Amino acid sequence: MHASLRCAALLGTSALPIDVQVDLALGLPGFVVVGLPDMACVDAKVRCATAIRNSGYELPHKRITVNLAPGDLRKEGASFDVPIALAVLQAAGLIPPATVATLAVGELSLSGEILPVRGVLPIALLARAIGVERMIVPEVNAAEAALAQGLEVHGVRTLADAAAAFTGELAFPPGPAEATALPAETRPDLSEVRGQGFCKRALEIAAAGAHSALLVGPPGAGKTMLARRMPGLLPALTFEEAVEATSIWSVAGKLRHGQGLLSERPFRAPHHTISVAGLVGGGSPPRPGEVSLAHNGLLFLDELPEFGRAALEALRQPLEDGEVAVVRVRGAAVLPARFMLLAAMNPCPCGHEGETATPARCNCTVLQKEGYRRRVSGPILDRFDLHVEARALSPSELSGPSTGETSDAVRARVEAARARQQERFRGLRGVHANSQLRGRALRELCGASSAALALLARSMERLGLSARAHDRILKLARTIADLENVRGVEAPHVAEAVQLRCLDRAVTGRSAEKVPTHQLARAAVLRANAPGTSPGPITQEGT
Ligand SMILES: Nc1ncnc2c1ncn2[C@@H]1O[C@H](COP(=O)(O)OP(=O)(O)OP(=O)(O)O)[C@@H](O)[C@H]1O
Ligand SMILES: [Mg+2]
Repeated sequence: MHASLRCAALLGTSALPIDVQVDLALGLPGFVVVGLPDMACVDAKVRCATAIRNSGYELPHKRITVNLAPGDLRKEGASFDVPIALAVLQAAGLIPPATVATLAVGELSLSGEILPVRGVLPIALLARAIGVERMIVPEVNAAEAALAQGLEVHGVRTLADAAAAFTGELAFPPGPAEATALPAETRPDLSEVRGQGFCKRALEIAAAGAHSALLVGPPGAGKTMLARRMPGLLPALTFEEAVEATSIWSVAGKLRHGQGLLSERPFRAPHHTISVAGLVGGGSPPRPGEVSLAHNGLLFLDELPEFGRAALEALRQPLEDGEVAVVRVRGAAVLPARFMLLAAMNPCPCGHEGETATPARCNCTVLQKEGYRRRVSGPILDRFDLHVEARALSPSELSGPSTGETSDAVRARVEAARARQQERFRGLRGVHANSQLRGRALRELCGASSAALALLARSMERLGLSARAHDRILKLARTIADLENVRGVEAPHVAEAVQLRCLDRAVTGRSAEKVPTHQLARAAVLRANAPGTSPGPITQEGT
């Protein structure tokens, strides 16, 4: 007596089809599971046999063999319980075969109840792709599975209900996919931040082109406050982006019970004590880390120098490639990790270096400053498109009326700039924003004038910038032009982009030349940032 049923295994954030094959033969009664199962999967035989008995069925006294095909792929976890139990019931003649192509997932308790599992959304997307018509999932995962439209999804609580759904006796409940959003009124607004017009402008540019940004400034200047308002500046997720992000959250087991599609861009702000595996993913089976949970959203690293060196260096590959390859003894998985990086730090251990506006004076020694700066490596600093200086606010700025723009007003401009980018990148795979442009596409689609390129070449020479910095400035200039709705990139756009980029010299204290050119860049920014002075290309709203 044979029976087989479809289920699925997870590899990284994607699902692979698995066939559960059951054979009942004469001989000594027994229950074996083969097909490279891990311990949790081997234990399925105990859970299944007990749950079947406690659900009112009587197992025949036969030798039961379960094979999970293909046999060369490691099967991990308890999500195979329900398909194994259903296939055993069918092979034993206790339930008739399924009437339509069916896939089942779920863990069984000994009493026959069905417990939730991870990764139901990618499994449902796979089911739709391979022509499955009916899907049996734990009740709390039903909203997630229903997102892969076109499937008959049965969210069930017990093995008896699963058997009824399997044979077509349980009515198909039309359950709408629930979208859950943070109520708008609880979102912090940009208008609450006083002053810091330069930072606000920089964050608007970062949001418009999905650029990575580093905020540097003294304690209490509002860096964390500004960063927490960044999600409100980002455009809404498209349906494809939401499905991608929700799949990752589903595999990580981070979706709330009954939650459907993520409706807001993810905002992840891990503590600086996080491990390398926690940040970029890992473990066996490989679980998504913070960089993957922030996919299509924002990763905020507050107090950047306090993060472990190894954890920060591990960010280098995902920041360049938009994905992270997690290799383990039993196979490798590529996890998506296309996120916007936002970080905040003080310029020195006491945080007051270079401050002139307040009575606070820096009392750090040169050695202390050097040690602090060296905690963040050059290659990591090089990966930030914008290096933004937040300055301490004067008492009058803090007590005066708040005149800044709201998050909604800024987001409207960001959305318009993103729409221009979408139009430009139509037909280009994997490119949604200027920061994702690479190589030839960057040169061809940037539309930089010869004056703009000449200014960039001069800046590179004078400031000793890297080739990566060259490309990043060009992308930043493209975003500034998009915000202005200008077709080509002109010299003023490059000038502002260079200014936004070059503060790292103030942060790192490094200079490529004898002449401290970083001080020029810094002085220019400080001049533009000072109240009542001509803003040049930098707008001063809110100051
Ligand atoms: N620009 C600002 N406008 C209004 N309130 C501010 C501003 N800056 C700071 N504050 C007030 O100060 C508090 C601390 O600010 P925040 O935590 O953002 O500082 P920070 O720059 O991150 O400091 P640190 O370097 O110590 O982390 C805020 O919760 C807010 O109440
Ligand atoms: Mg802070």
